[in-house]
Amino acid sequence: MQKWSPETWRTRPIRQAPAYPDPKSVEAVERTLRNFPPLVFAGEARRLKAALADVAAGRAFLLQGGDCAESFAEFHPNNIRDTFRVLLQMAVVLTYGAACPVVKVGRLAGQFAKPRSSETERQGDQELPSYRGDIINGPDFSAEARRPDPQRMLQAYSQAAATLNLLRAFAQGGYADLHRVHSWNQGFVEKSPAGAAYRELADRLTETLDFMSACGLTSETTPQIRETDFYTSHEALLLPYEEALTRIDSTTGDWYDCSAHMVWIGERTRQPDGAHVEFVRGIKNPVGVKVGPGATPDELLRLIDILNPANEPGRLTLITRMGAGKPAEKLPALVRAVQREGRVVVWCCDPMHGNTHTSSTGYKTRSFDKILAEVREFFAVHEAEGTYAGGVHFEMTGQDVTECIGGAQAITEEGLRDRYHTHCDPRLNASQSLELAFLLADALKRKRRGSGRAPQVAAAE
Ligand code: PEP
Ligand code: CO
Repeated sequence: MQKWSPETWRTRPIRQAPAYPDPKSVEAVERTLRNFPPLVFAGEARRLKAALADVAAGRAFLLQGGDCAESFAEFHPNNIRDTFRVLLQMAVVLTYGAACPVVKVGRLAGQFAKPRSSETERQGDQELPSYRGDIINGPDFSAEARRPDPQRMLQAYSQAAATLNLLRAFAQGGYADLHRVHSWNQGFVEKSPAGAAYRELADRLTETLDFMSACGLTSETTPQIRETDFYTSHEALLLPYEEALTRIDSTTGDWYDCSAHMVWIGERTRQPDGAHVEFVRGIKNPVGVKVGPGATPDELLRLIDILNPANEPGRLTLITRMGAGKPAEKLPALVRAVQREGRVVVWCCDPMHGNTHTSSTGYKTRSFDKILAEVREFFAVHEAEGTYAGGVHFEMTGQDVTECIGGAQAITEEGLRDRYHTHCDPRLNASQSLELAFLLADALKRKRRGSGRAPQVAAAE
Protein backbone atom coordinates (compact mmCIF):
# COMPACT_ATOMS: atom_id res chain seq x y z
CA MET A 1 0.00 0.00 0.00
CA GLN A 2 1.27 3.47 -0.93
CA LYS A 3 2.15 6.00 1.72
CA TRP A 4 -0.83 7.99 2.92
CA SER A 5 -1.09 11.61 3.98
CA PRO A 6 -4.16 13.85 4.31
CA GLU A 7 -3.63 15.15 0.76
CA THR A 8 -2.85 11.94 -1.18
CA TRP A 9 -6.50 11.87 -2.33
CA ARG A 10 -5.56 14.75 -4.64
CA THR A 11 -3.66 12.36 -6.92
CA ARG A 12 -6.73 10.14 -7.45
CA PRO A 13 -9.71 10.48 -9.76
CA ILE A 14 -12.50 12.27 -7.94
CA ARG A 15 -16.27 12.25 -8.40
CA GLN A 16 -18.85 14.74 -7.13
CA ALA A 17 -16.30 17.53 -6.60
CA PRO A 18 -17.53 21.11 -7.06
CA ALA A 19 -15.93 23.19 -9.82
CA TYR A 20 -14.78 26.20 -7.78
CA PRO A 21 -14.23 29.16 -10.12
CA ASP A 22 -11.20 30.46 -8.18
CA PRO A 23 -8.75 27.84 -6.79
CA LYS A 24 -6.80 30.55 -4.92
CA SER A 25 -9.77 31.42 -2.75
CA VAL A 26 -10.28 27.72 -1.97
CA GLU A 27 -6.66 27.52 -0.79
CA ALA A 28 -7.16 30.59 1.38
CA VAL A 29 -10.18 28.98 3.06
CA GLU A 30 -8.25 25.73 3.56
CA ARG A 31 -5.46 27.66 5.29
CA THR A 32 -7.99 29.32 7.58
CA LEU A 33 -9.68 26.02 8.40
CA ARG A 34 -6.36 24.38 9.17
CA ASN A 35 -5.89 26.88 11.99
CA PHE A 36 -9.37 26.33 13.44
CA PRO A 37 -9.75 24.05 16.45
CA PRO A 38 -10.72 20.42 15.87
CA LEU A 39 -14.45 19.84 16.35
CA VAL A 40 -13.99 16.47 18.03
CA PHE A 41 -11.11 14.80 19.81
CA ALA A 42 -9.38 11.63 18.70
CA GLY A 43 -10.14 10.04 22.06
CA GLU A 44 -13.87 10.50 21.44
CA ALA A 45 -13.60 8.87 18.01
CA ARG A 46 -11.78 5.95 19.65
CA ARG A 47 -14.54 5.66 22.20
CA LEU A 48 -17.11 5.43 19.40
CA LYS A 49 -14.95 2.83 17.69
CA ALA A 50 -15.00 0.75 20.87
CA ALA A 51 -18.79 1.12 21.08
CA LEU A 52 -19.09 0.02 17.44
CA ALA A 53 -16.85 -2.96 18.17
CA ASP A 54 -19.54 -3.97 20.68
CA VAL A 55 -22.11 -3.63 17.92
CA ALA A 56 -20.01 -5.78 15.58
CA ALA A 57 -19.89 -8.42 18.30
CA GLY A 58 -23.69 -8.40 18.72
CA ARG A 59 -23.66 -6.72 22.13
CA ALA A 60 -25.19 -3.37 21.14
CA PHE A 61 -27.25 -1.73 18.40
CA LEU A 62 -26.37 1.30 16.26
CA LEU A 63 -28.93 4.06 15.77
CA GLN A 64 -27.74 6.63 13.24
CA GLY A 65 -30.02 9.39 12.07
CA GLY A 66 -30.68 13.00 11.26
CA ASP A 67 -31.23 15.30 8.34
CA CYS A 68 -30.46 14.37 4.77
CA ALA A 69 -28.71 17.74 4.64
CA GLU A 70 -28.33 20.35 7.33
CA SER A 71 -28.94 23.85 6.02
CA PHE A 72 -27.93 27.37 6.92
CA ALA A 73 -31.56 28.54 6.68
CA GLU A 74 -32.90 25.99 9.18
CA PHE A 75 -30.10 26.46 11.69
CA HIS A 76 -31.93 26.97 14.96
CA PRO A 77 -31.46 25.60 18.48
CA ASN A 78 -35.03 24.28 18.50
CA ASN A 79 -34.40 22.20 15.39
CA ILE A 80 -31.27 20.68 16.89
CA ARG A 81 -33.09 20.00 20.16
CA ASP A 82 -36.04 18.39 18.40
CA THR A 83 -33.90 16.04 16.32
CA PHE A 84 -31.82 15.18 19.38
CA ARG A 85 -34.86 14.36 21.48
CA VAL A 86 -36.46 12.13 18.88
CA LEU A 87 -33.19 10.22 18.70
CA LEU A 88 -33.26 9.98 22.51
CA GLN A 89 -36.85 8.72 22.41
CA MET A 90 -35.98 6.14 19.76
CA ALA A 91 -32.94 5.04 21.75
CA VAL A 92 -35.00 4.65 24.93
CA VAL A 93 -37.58 2.57 23.09
CA LEU A 94 -34.84 0.35 21.70
CA THR A 95 -32.86 0.10 24.93
CA TYR A 96 -35.82 -0.48 27.21
CA GLY A 97 -37.94 -2.40 24.73
CA ALA A 98 -35.18 -4.72 23.60
CA ALA A 99 -32.79 -4.58 26.59
CA CYS A 100 -30.01 -3.70 24.22
CA PRO A 101 -27.48 -0.86 24.60
CA VAL A 102 -27.88 1.66 21.79
CA VAL A 103 -25.00 3.58 20.22
CA LYS A 104 -26.39 6.97 19.19
CA VAL A 105 -24.85 8.70 16.18
CA GLY A 106 -26.39 11.82 14.64
CA ARG A 107 -26.25 12.89 11.01
CA LEU A 108 -25.60 16.28 12.55
CA ALA A 109 -22.99 18.99 13.06
CA GLY A 110 -21.40 18.65 9.63
CA GLN A 111 -23.85 16.86 7.28
CA PHE A 112 -23.82 19.56 4.63
CA ALA A 113 -22.39 18.22 1.35
CA LYS A 114 -24.62 16.27 -1.05
CA PRO A 115 -23.74 13.99 -3.94
CA ARG A 116 -26.05 14.52 -6.92
CA SER A 117 -27.10 12.18 -9.69
CA SER A 118 -26.98 14.99 -12.23
CA GLU A 119 -24.36 17.73 -12.64
CA THR A 120 -26.99 20.24 -13.67
CA GLU A 121 -30.64 21.04 -13.08
CA ARG A 122 -32.98 22.31 -15.78
CA GLN A 123 -36.00 24.53 -15.14
CA GLY A 124 -37.80 25.71 -18.27
CA ASP A 125 -35.06 26.63 -20.72
CA GLN A 126 -32.49 27.48 -18.05
CA GLU A 127 -29.84 24.97 -17.00
CA LEU A 128 -27.73 25.58 -13.88
CA PRO A 129 -25.30 23.57 -11.76
CA SER A 130 -27.11 21.30 -9.29
CA TYR A 131 -27.43 22.30 -5.66
CA ARG A 132 -24.74 20.35 -3.74
CA GLY A 133 -25.50 21.28 -0.16
CA ASP A 134 -25.05 24.52 1.76
CA ILE A 135 -21.32 23.94 2.33
CA ILE A 136 -20.86 24.24 -1.46
CA ASN A 137 -23.60 26.37 -3.04
CA GLY A 138 -27.13 27.67 -2.44
CA PRO A 139 -30.48 26.00 -3.16
CA ASP A 140 -32.07 28.94 -5.01
CA PHE A 141 -32.36 28.44 -8.75
CA SER A 142 -30.10 31.29 -9.87
CA ALA A 143 -26.63 31.37 -11.39
CA GLU A 144 -25.42 33.40 -8.42
CA ALA A 145 -26.68 30.93 -5.77
CA ARG A 146 -25.47 27.87 -7.63
CA ARG A 147 -21.88 29.11 -8.05
CA PRO A 148 -19.69 27.08 -5.63
CA ASP A 149 -18.36 29.43 -2.96
CA PRO A 150 -15.52 28.26 -0.69
CA GLN A 151 -16.47 30.79 2.01
CA ARG A 152 -19.43 28.53 2.71
CA MET A 153 -17.00 26.04 4.28
CA LEU A 154 -16.29 28.57 7.03
CA GLN A 155 -19.98 29.07 7.73
CA ALA A 156 -20.50 25.29 7.77
CA TYR A 157 -17.63 24.91 10.23
CA SER A 158 -19.09 27.56 12.51
CA GLN A 159 -22.57 26.01 12.36
CA ALA A 160 -21.11 22.55 13.04
CA ALA A 161 -19.17 23.92 16.03
CA ALA A 162 -22.23 25.61 17.52
CA THR A 163 -24.41 22.55 16.87
CA LEU A 164 -21.90 20.25 18.50
CA ASN A 165 -21.61 22.57 21.46
CA LEU A 166 -25.36 22.40 22.00
CA LEU A 167 -25.45 18.63 21.51
CA ARG A 168 -22.73 18.18 24.11
CA ALA A 169 -24.69 20.36 26.53
CA PHE A 170 -27.88 18.37 25.87
CA ALA A 171 -26.12 15.03 26.24
CA GLN A 172 -24.19 15.89 29.37
CA GLY A 173 -25.91 18.85 30.97
CA GLY A 174 -29.07 17.24 32.31
CA TYR A 175 -31.41 17.26 29.30
CA ALA A 176 -30.74 13.58 28.57
CA ASP A 177 -31.28 12.53 32.20
CA LEU A 178 -33.59 9.49 32.08
CA HIS A 179 -35.80 11.13 34.69
CA ARG A 180 -36.83 13.53 31.92
CA VAL A 181 -38.02 10.69 29.70
CA HIS A 182 -41.62 12.02 29.69
CA SER A 183 -40.60 15.51 28.67
CA TRP A 184 -39.04 14.27 25.41
CA ASN A 185 -42.55 13.45 24.16
CA GLN A 186 -43.24 16.81 22.56
CA GLY A 187 -46.66 18.21 21.57
CA PHE A 188 -47.48 16.80 18.17
CA VAL A 189 -45.75 13.46 18.81
CA GLU A 190 -47.61 12.95 22.05
CA LYS A 191 -50.91 13.03 20.18
CA SER A 192 -49.86 10.30 17.76
CA PRO A 193 -50.33 6.56 18.43
CA ALA A 194 -46.56 6.14 18.80
CA GLY A 195 -46.58 8.99 21.34
CA ALA A 196 -49.20 7.17 23.42
CA ALA A 197 -47.17 3.94 23.33
CA TYR A 198 -44.13 5.97 24.32
CA ARG A 199 -45.98 7.46 27.30
CA GLU A 200 -46.70 3.97 28.61
CA LEU A 201 -43.09 2.94 28.20
CA ALA A 202 -41.95 6.13 29.93
CA ASP A 203 -44.31 5.35 32.85
CA ARG A 204 -42.72 1.93 33.26
CA LEU A 205 -39.26 3.38 32.97
CA THR A 206 -40.08 5.96 35.63
CA GLU A 207 -41.21 3.18 37.97
CA THR A 208 -37.95 1.37 37.33
CA LEU A 209 -36.00 4.54 38.08
CA ASP A 210 -37.92 4.96 41.36
CA PHE A 211 -36.97 1.42 42.29
CA MET A 212 -33.33 2.04 41.37
CA SER A 213 -33.33 5.25 43.35
CA ALA A 214 -34.60 3.34 46.40
CA CYS A 215 -31.59 1.08 45.91
CA GLY A 216 -29.28 4.10 45.88
CA LEU A 217 -28.82 4.47 42.11
CA THR A 218 -29.74 8.07 41.32
CA SER A 219 -28.74 10.73 38.80
CA GLU A 220 -26.23 11.97 41.34
CA THR A 221 -24.61 8.60 41.92
CA THR A 222 -24.93 7.15 38.43
CA PRO A 223 -23.70 9.11 35.40
CA GLN A 224 -25.35 6.57 33.05
CA ILE A 225 -28.74 7.81 34.28
CA ARG A 226 -27.81 11.48 34.14
CA GLU A 227 -26.08 11.72 30.77
CA THR A 228 -25.64 9.94 27.49
CA ASP A 229 -22.97 9.41 24.83
CA PHE A 230 -23.96 11.08 21.61
CA TYR A 231 -21.72 11.06 18.54
CA THR A 232 -21.72 12.95 15.25
CA SER A 233 -21.24 11.77 11.67
CA HIS A 234 -21.57 12.93 8.09
CA GLU A 235 -20.62 11.94 4.57
CA ALA A 236 -16.95 12.75 3.90
CA LEU A 237 -17.72 14.20 0.50
CA LEU A 238 -16.09 17.63 0.36
CA LEU A 239 -12.47 16.58 0.76
CA PRO A 240 -10.79 20.01 0.99
CA TYR A 241 -12.90 20.60 4.13
CA GLU A 242 -12.21 17.15 5.57
CA GLU A 243 -8.49 17.38 4.85
CA ALA A 244 -8.22 20.76 6.58
CA LEU A 245 -9.78 19.31 9.74
CA THR A 246 -7.60 16.20 9.74
CA ARG A 247 -5.09 16.39 12.55
CA ILE A 248 -2.43 14.26 14.23
CA ASP A 249 -3.51 12.94 17.60
CA SER A 250 -0.77 13.78 20.07
CA THR A 251 -1.42 10.66 22.17
CA THR A 252 -1.02 8.10 19.40
CA GLY A 253 0.61 9.98 16.52
CA ASP A 254 -2.27 8.86 14.27
CA TRP A 255 -4.34 11.00 11.90
CA TYR A 256 -7.97 11.68 12.77
CA ASP A 257 -10.55 13.57 10.77
CA CYS A 258 -11.67 15.89 13.57
CA SER A 259 -14.74 17.18 11.68
CA ALA A 260 -16.87 14.39 13.22
CA HIS A 261 -16.52 11.22 15.27
CA MET A 262 -17.48 9.06 12.31
CA VAL A 263 -17.56 9.77 8.58
CA TRP A 264 -18.88 7.65 5.74
CA ILE A 265 -18.32 7.29 2.00
CA GLY A 266 -21.43 7.54 -0.16
CA GLU A 267 -22.68 5.10 -2.77
CA ARG A 268 -21.54 7.36 -5.61
CA THR A 269 -17.97 7.93 -4.40
CA ARG A 270 -16.82 4.51 -3.17
CA GLN A 271 -14.60 3.58 -6.15
CA PRO A 272 -11.66 1.62 -4.65
CA ASP A 273 -9.10 3.68 -6.60
CA GLY A 274 -10.98 6.97 -6.14
CA ALA A 275 -10.18 10.03 -4.05
CA HIS A 276 -12.75 9.45 -1.30
CA VAL A 277 -11.61 5.92 -0.49
CA GLU A 278 -8.02 7.14 -0.53
CA PHE A 279 -8.78 9.89 1.97
CA VAL A 280 -10.77 7.75 4.37
CA ARG A 281 -8.22 4.91 4.27
CA GLY A 282 -5.69 6.89 6.29
CA ILE A 283 -7.80 8.41 9.03
CA LYS A 284 -8.28 6.37 12.20
CA ASN A 285 -11.91 7.33 12.89
CA PRO A 286 -14.62 4.72 12.65
CA VAL A 287 -15.85 4.91 9.06
CA GLY A 288 -18.86 3.78 7.06
CA VAL A 289 -19.43 2.85 3.45
CA LYS A 290 -22.79 2.86 1.71
CA VAL A 291 -23.46 -0.36 -0.15
CA GLY A 292 -26.09 -0.28 -2.88
CA PRO A 293 -27.74 -3.12 -4.79
CA GLY A 294 -25.05 -3.03 -7.51
CA ALA A 295 -22.15 -3.86 -5.17
CA THR A 296 -20.46 -7.20 -5.88
CA PRO A 297 -18.81 -9.40 -3.23
CA ASP A 298 -15.37 -8.89 -4.81
CA GLU A 299 -15.77 -5.13 -4.90
CA LEU A 300 -16.86 -5.12 -1.27
CA LEU A 301 -13.96 -7.29 -0.12
CA ARG A 302 -11.56 -5.02 -1.95
CA LEU A 303 -12.99 -2.01 -0.14
CA ILE A 304 -12.76 -3.81 3.19
CA ASP A 305 -9.10 -4.66 2.50
CA ILE A 306 -8.33 -1.03 1.77
CA LEU A 307 -10.35 0.51 4.58
CA ASN A 308 -9.75 -2.01 7.35
CA PRO A 309 -6.63 -4.02 6.53
CA ALA A 310 -5.99 -4.85 10.21
CA ASN A 311 -9.57 -6.14 10.64
CA GLU A 312 -10.04 -3.84 13.60
CA PRO A 313 -13.50 -4.30 15.18
CA GLY A 314 -15.58 -1.10 15.12
CA ARG A 315 -13.52 0.49 12.35
CA LEU A 316 -15.90 -0.31 9.49
CA THR A 317 -19.66 -0.08 9.21
CA LEU A 318 -21.29 -1.33 6.01
CA ILE A 319 -24.46 0.65 5.46
CA THR A 320 -26.58 -1.32 3.01
CA ARG A 321 -29.19 0.65 1.04
CA MET A 322 -30.74 -1.68 -1.43
CA GLY A 323 -34.42 -0.76 -1.70
CA ALA A 324 -37.36 -2.81 -0.44
CA GLY A 325 -37.57 -6.20 -2.15
CA LYS A 326 -33.83 -6.34 -2.89
CA PRO A 327 -32.02 -7.51 0.28
CA ALA A 328 -33.16 -11.14 -0.12
CA GLU A 329 -31.61 -11.24 -3.56
CA LYS A 330 -28.53 -9.04 -3.12
CA LEU A 331 -27.46 -9.17 0.51
CA PRO A 332 -26.74 -12.89 1.16
CA ALA A 333 -23.81 -13.05 -1.29
CA LEU A 334 -22.23 -9.98 0.32
CA VAL A 335 -22.75 -11.26 3.86
CA ARG A 336 -21.35 -14.68 2.96
CA ALA A 337 -18.24 -13.23 1.34
CA VAL A 338 -17.54 -11.07 4.41
CA GLN A 339 -18.10 -14.06 6.72
CA ARG A 340 -15.98 -16.39 4.60
CA GLU A 341 -13.06 -13.97 4.78
CA GLY A 342 -13.51 -13.53 8.53
CA ARG A 343 -13.93 -9.77 8.23
CA VAL A 344 -15.39 -7.98 11.24
CA VAL A 345 -17.91 -5.31 10.26
CA VAL A 346 -21.02 -3.63 11.59
CA TRP A 347 -23.96 -4.34 9.28
CA CYS A 348 -26.28 -1.36 9.27
CA CYS A 349 -29.43 -0.81 7.20
CA ASP A 350 -30.21 2.50 5.50
CA PRO A 351 -33.78 1.89 4.31
CA MET A 352 -34.08 5.43 2.94
CA HIS A 353 -31.88 5.84 -0.13
CA GLY A 354 -33.09 2.81 -2.09
CA ASN A 355 -36.72 3.74 -1.53
CA THR A 356 -37.17 7.20 -3.03
CA HIS A 357 -39.84 7.84 -5.64
CA THR A 358 -41.81 10.78 -7.03
CA SER A 359 -45.43 10.98 -5.88
CA SER A 360 -48.31 11.51 -8.29
CA THR A 361 -48.48 15.00 -6.77
CA GLY A 362 -44.89 15.70 -7.87
CA TYR A 363 -42.99 15.33 -4.57
CA LYS A 364 -39.86 13.27 -4.00
CA THR A 365 -41.06 10.94 -1.26
CA ARG A 366 -40.60 7.59 0.49
CA SER A 367 -43.21 5.24 1.83
CA PHE A 368 -43.17 4.21 5.47
CA ASP A 369 -44.15 0.66 4.44
CA LYS A 370 -41.22 0.31 2.07
CA ILE A 371 -38.82 1.68 4.68
CA LEU A 372 -40.12 -0.83 7.21
CA ALA A 373 -40.08 -3.61 4.61
CA GLU A 374 -36.40 -3.05 3.84
CA VAL A 375 -35.50 -3.09 7.54
CA ARG A 376 -37.43 -6.34 8.03
CA GLU A 377 -35.77 -7.92 4.98
CA PHE A 378 -32.37 -6.84 6.31
CA PHE A 379 -33.13 -8.51 9.66
CA ALA A 380 -34.39 -11.65 7.91
CA VAL A 381 -31.25 -12.04 5.78
CA HIS A 382 -28.96 -11.68 8.79
CA GLU A 383 -31.10 -14.09 10.76
CA ALA A 384 -30.84 -16.65 7.97
CA GLU A 385 -27.09 -16.14 7.55
CA GLY A 386 -26.36 -16.26 11.27
CA THR A 387 -24.93 -12.75 11.28
CA TYR A 388 -25.91 -9.78 13.39
CA ALA A 389 -28.15 -7.03 12.03
CA GLY A 390 -26.33 -4.32 13.91
CA GLY A 391 -28.03 -1.04 13.21
CA VAL A 392 -30.21 1.33 11.27
CA HIS A 393 -29.55 4.62 9.50
CA PHE A 394 -32.48 7.00 9.03
CA GLU A 395 -33.12 10.39 7.50
CA MET A 396 -35.43 11.97 10.03
CA THR A 397 -36.25 15.21 11.77
CA GLY A 398 -37.85 16.26 15.03
CA GLN A 399 -40.24 18.50 13.10
CA ASP A 400 -43.82 17.65 12.18
CA VAL A 401 -43.15 17.52 8.45
CA THR A 402 -45.09 15.66 5.76
CA GLU A 403 -42.37 14.29 3.50
CA CYS A 404 -42.74 10.49 3.73
CA ILE A 405 -46.11 8.85 3.09
CA GLY A 406 -47.81 6.38 5.41
CA GLY A 407 -47.23 5.45 9.01
CA ALA A 408 -49.94 5.56 11.68
CA GLN A 409 -50.58 9.22 10.79
CA ALA A 410 -51.42 7.91 7.30
CA ILE A 411 -49.81 10.77 5.38
CA THR A 412 -51.12 10.62 1.82
CA GLU A 413 -49.64 11.79 -1.49
CA GLU A 414 -52.04 14.76 -1.31
CA GLY A 415 -50.97 15.43 2.28
CA LEU A 416 -47.30 15.81 1.26
CA ARG A 417 -47.89 19.42 0.26
CA ASP A 418 -48.93 20.45 3.80
CA ARG A 419 -45.48 20.66 5.40
CA TYR A 420 -42.90 19.56 2.84
CA HIS A 421 -39.77 21.41 3.99
CA THR A 422 -36.73 19.34 3.06
CA HIS A 423 -33.98 20.86 0.90
CA CYS A 424 -32.95 17.44 -0.19
CA ASP A 425 -34.36 13.97 0.53
CA PRO A 426 -37.72 13.32 2.29
CA ARG A 427 -37.34 12.67 6.03
CA LEU A 428 -39.38 10.67 8.49
CA ASN A 429 -41.11 13.04 10.87
CA ALA A 430 -40.86 12.66 14.64
CA SER A 431 -43.86 10.38 15.08
CA GLN A 432 -42.99 8.20 12.08
CA SER A 433 -39.47 7.82 13.53
CA LEU A 434 -40.81 6.83 16.92
CA GLU A 435 -43.24 4.40 15.35
CA LEU A 436 -40.37 2.73 13.50
CA ALA A 437 -38.39 2.50 16.73
CA PHE A 438 -41.25 0.56 18.36
CA LEU A 439 -41.50 -1.84 15.44
CA LEU A 440 -37.75 -2.29 15.49
CA ALA A 441 -37.68 -2.88 19.24
CA ASP A 442 -40.18 -5.69 18.75
CA ALA A 443 -38.05 -7.28 16.06
CA LEU A 444 -34.92 -6.96 18.20
CA LYS A 445 -36.67 -8.31 21.28
CA ARG A 446 -37.93 -11.36 19.38
CA LYS A 447 -34.49 -12.01 18.00
CA ARG A 448 -32.73 -11.68 21.35
CA ARG A 449 -35.30 -13.89 23.06
CA GLY A 450 -35.31 -16.41 20.22
CA SER A 451 -31.72 -17.09 19.37
CA GLY A 452 -29.96 -15.42 22.25
CA ARG A 453 -27.05 -13.15 21.43
CA ALA A 454 -25.66 -13.02 17.94
CA PRO A 455 -22.76 -15.31 17.17
CA GLN A 456 -19.58 -13.62 18.27
CA VAL A 457 -17.13 -13.00 15.48
CA ALA A 458 -13.59 -13.31 16.71
CA ALA A 459 -11.26 -10.52 15.68
CA ALA A 460 -8.37 -11.67 13.55
CA GLU A 461 -4.92 -10.86 14.89
C1 PEP B 1 -27.12 10.14 1.99
O1 PEP B 1 -26.88 9.38 2.94
O2 PEP B 1 -27.63 11.26 2.12
C2 PEP B 1 -26.81 9.66 0.61
C3 PEP B 1 -26.68 10.48 -0.41
O3 PEP B 1 -26.74 8.33 0.54
P1 PEP B 1 -26.21 7.36 -0.62
O4 PEP B 1 -24.75 7.68 -0.80
O5 PEP B 1 -26.42 6.01 -0.01
O6 PEP B 1 -27.04 7.59 -1.83
CO1 CO C 1 -30.26 11.64 1.61
